[in-house]
Amino acid sequence: MKAEIIINRNYRIGEIDRRIYGSFIEHLGRAVYGGIYEPGHPTADDRGFRGDVIGLVKELNVPIVRYPGGNFVSGYNWEDGIGDKSKRPRRIELAWQSVEPNQVGIDEFQEWARRAGSEVMMAVNLGTAGPSEAMNCVEYCNSETDTHYAQMRRKNGFEKPFKIKTWCLGNEMDGDWQMGHKTAEEYGRVAAETAKLMKLVDPEIELVLCGSSSPEMPSYIDWELTALEHAYDYVDYISLHSYYNNKSGNTPEFFARSVGMDRFIKTVASVCDIVRAKKRRSKTVNLSFDEWNVWYNCSNAGWKIGAHIMEDCYTLEDAIVVGCLLMTLQNNCDRVKIACMAQLVNVIAPIMTDDDGSSWVQTTFYPFMFASANGRGTAMKPVVNCGSYRSADFGEVPYIETSVIHNAEKRELVVFAVNRSLDDGAETSVRFENFEDCALVEHVELYSDDLKAVNTKTSSAVLPARREIEAALPSAEHRVKLKKHSWNMLRFAY
Ligand code: AHR
Repeated sequence: MKAEIIINRNYRIGEIDRRIYGSFIEHLGRAVYGGIYEPGHPTADDRGFRGDVIGLVKELNVPIVRYPGGNFVSGYNWEDGIGDKSKRPRRIELAWQSVEPNQVGIDEFQEWARRAGSEVMMAVNLGTAGPSEAMNCVEYCNSETDTHYAQMRRKNGFEKPFKIKTWCLGNEMDGDWQMGHKTAEEYGRVAAETAKLMKLVDPEIELVLCGSSSPEMPSYIDWELTALEHAYDYVDYISLHSYYNNKSGNTPEFFARSVGMDRFIKTVASVCDIVRAKKRRSKTVNLSFDEWNVWYNCSNAGWKIGAHIMEDCYTLEDAIVVGCLLMTLQNNCDRVKIACMAQLVNVIAPIMTDDDGSSWVQTTFYPFMFASANGRGTAMKPVVNCGSYRSADFGEVPYIETSVIHNAEKRELVVFAVNRSLDDGAETSVRFENFEDCALVEHVELYSDDLKAVNTKTSSAVLPARREIEAALPSAEHRVKLKKHSWNMLRFAY
């Protein structure tokens, strides 16, 4: 199969917001207890955070981490997780039917995030709580005033405010599984009033309104329209959530799911713009794709702390889909400003820990790591000429999925590419127009003959390989081979 990727300096999509390489830590399963936090672990630091896990998070290069949920947040009292740890309540936790010991809360998590090189994206409870708890939390985290909650933070040992900039107005409030589930009208009103108060406490913060919890929800679109009707003036982003899997065993359809993600993004952006037009506003509401990933298994925790639940083991084909989803986020960077791979540690996660104290990384770790490290700069709009196949859900799907990022500071062009074909490699010409001649300096490939190959704590069947580069000479055209069902990163320097 032949393919062609043409990159012209004049055709740009927009600047990548580094926060599209965000992730998510929820009080769920072993994400917190036994994941990021394990006092007594040989690598634990003075606060009980696992050093091996922080090391892997730093390798992934995650600029923002959403916290503390997820479904968990809709029953959470943030005041349970601050101050003297020995006095914190042990609570029944209804979202995942677990026990929450509250040994980690915002006091600890903001410190963990700092040590991991990330910022916190904090979610407030709009399920069982409301505007008052949310505005108090903003005061506790961000205020410098001589007032109750800011003083409480100081008393708890934090003189300086945490300065949390990005906040979510609840989580998946359209879903009937959510504690305090609401109609779009109910949610829109409470979200608007909560947003108003939170911004009065700290006008610098940015707020994310809950969109639909998936495009399959019956209220999808109507929910967005109604919630935005109420809250448009107070919010900066609307959330999108979507998970994908290959439970049907149809790999070509699974590989096409990023086309669905692309349509989802473009549709929600249009809905935001319809409300903007109706309200005759100049402000644009952007998108926060704050839950996305491949996800197979869901269960509850059986009233345990740190239960082994939702610990999916990812294959090469899952990693290829994660690679395509990341390209889709990059290619929509004009509207998607925040995105969180859900989740980060142990729970549907790229980073795993084991009961024996070891840690290891899944197949999905690699496309994320390379995208975050090398996908910073301007997303370009390449022309891709290649064959396609027919998908039942999405029509014609091109064999080659790609994104191209221009980093002018580093004088680099980075091409991410997946070949979706299960049978044929793609002899691919990469052509640059209106650029200086470029040299191919790195070709990283994620490939195995076996699409179902996985990594475990003892074996790594799916590892990125650096392909040999024949001649690193500057040229306007390069020929590369993209193996069948492979993920690739090509780095060009000029
Ligand atoms: O990420 C796991 C769960 O998926 C989150 O708690 C919830 O928001 C979503 O349904």
